Amino acid sequence: MRLQELYPLLRCLADGEFHSGQILAETFGLTRAAIWKQIQALNEVPGIHIQSVRGRGYRLQQAIQLLDHGRISARLPEGAPLRLELLPETASTNDWLRQHADPEVNSGHACLAEYQSAGRGRRGRHWVCAFGSNIYLSLAWRFDLAMADLAGLSLAVGVSVARVLEAHGLQGHGLKWPNDIYLDGKKLGGILVEASGEMQGPALAIIGVGINLRLEQAAAAAIDQPWTDMASALTRPVDRNHLCGDLLAGLLDTCTQFQNLGLSHFLHEWKAYDIYLGQQVELRLGSQVIPGIYRGLDDRGGLLLETSGEQRSWYAGEVSLRGGADQ
Ligand code: ATP
Ligand code: BTN
Repeated sequence: MRLQELYPLLRCLADGEFHSGQILAETFGLTRAAIWKQIQALNEVPGIHIQSVRGRGYRLQQAIQLLDHGRISARLPEGAPLRLELLPETASTNDWLRQHADPEVNSGHACLAEYQSAGRGRRGRHWVCAFGSNIYLSLAWRFDLAMADLAGLSLAVGVSVARVLEAHGLQGHGLKWPNDIYLDGKKLGGILVEASGEMQGPALAIIGVGINLRLEQAAAAAIDQPWTDMASALTRPVDRNHLCGDLLAGLLDTCTQFQNLGLSHFLHEWKAYDIYLGQQVELRLGSQVIPGIYRGLDDRGGLLLETSGEQRSWYAGEVSLRGGADQ
């Protein structure tokens, strides 16, 4: 059974209250057995846990704030050039947009998913997802820039995301070159920019952002590095729809500024969020490990590594940055 078909029932249960099987069956014009089958199918989805209590009915272990078009759009500036799609489930929001972005209006086409079944990080690594409690967002934007100039876009996006998280009460978060959002030394989110087009432009960028808001341990067991979520750091719950709207508004601004002003406009602020500046680090190139002191970014967004007193730039392609003490 596809999540799309189960969505009406889930919407009913989202409040976290008990709903009797009988009333649900009447509401949806189904038998109680059919409702039970849908509940079982929903319980298969990572992040969804529905309890069944005799005499009381069904309820979600924890209420879910489902994505809401009106509440997200309310955070966007009036007349914002954005077409927004909300998806209960998709393999990857980046892939969905690549397949669906309208070539005529492909600036400002965004999608958000409650769940991704095949979320991706860099180089095809798996991005671990759970239903209804995190952010999986992609924005398609066409730049009148050469492909090579888009290399620094994920850095600009990092700054934009970090600002918005701060506005939502998060403190002490930072950025790890080239595309990670960190909090207390653990990974909180990531950015995946995928560009296509003519070498000399225009180029279409699909900008993907994943942020853990409340990621349950069971789903996160598959993450092979320290991770965290916003709920662990904040005393008040985040309004997911407001955060989505603010992230999108920030990204629209960022795309316009990146087009007009380039990466240099963002580099100063990036430095303020940089978690490893001046520290002993390691660069990983496949099985090769290069230790050195991390001296920040060059003006093209490359990483500056100091080894034996000499500095050299490295570009994101096949290189990963790790803190000197990391495993
Ligand atoms: P790099 O420095 O090369 O970017 P990375 O380990 O951060 O290295 P990415 O491709 O950026 O790799 O991100 C994917 C990695 O992020 C996964 O291999 C996993 O370790 C981690 N990860 C996957 N899902 C999550 C998640 N929901 N929250 C935090 N971290 C995750
Ligand atoms: C990373 O850390 O390498 C980047 C992770 C990016 C995850 C987001 S979730 C929305 C979008 N869709 C994907 O499949 N990936 C990005």
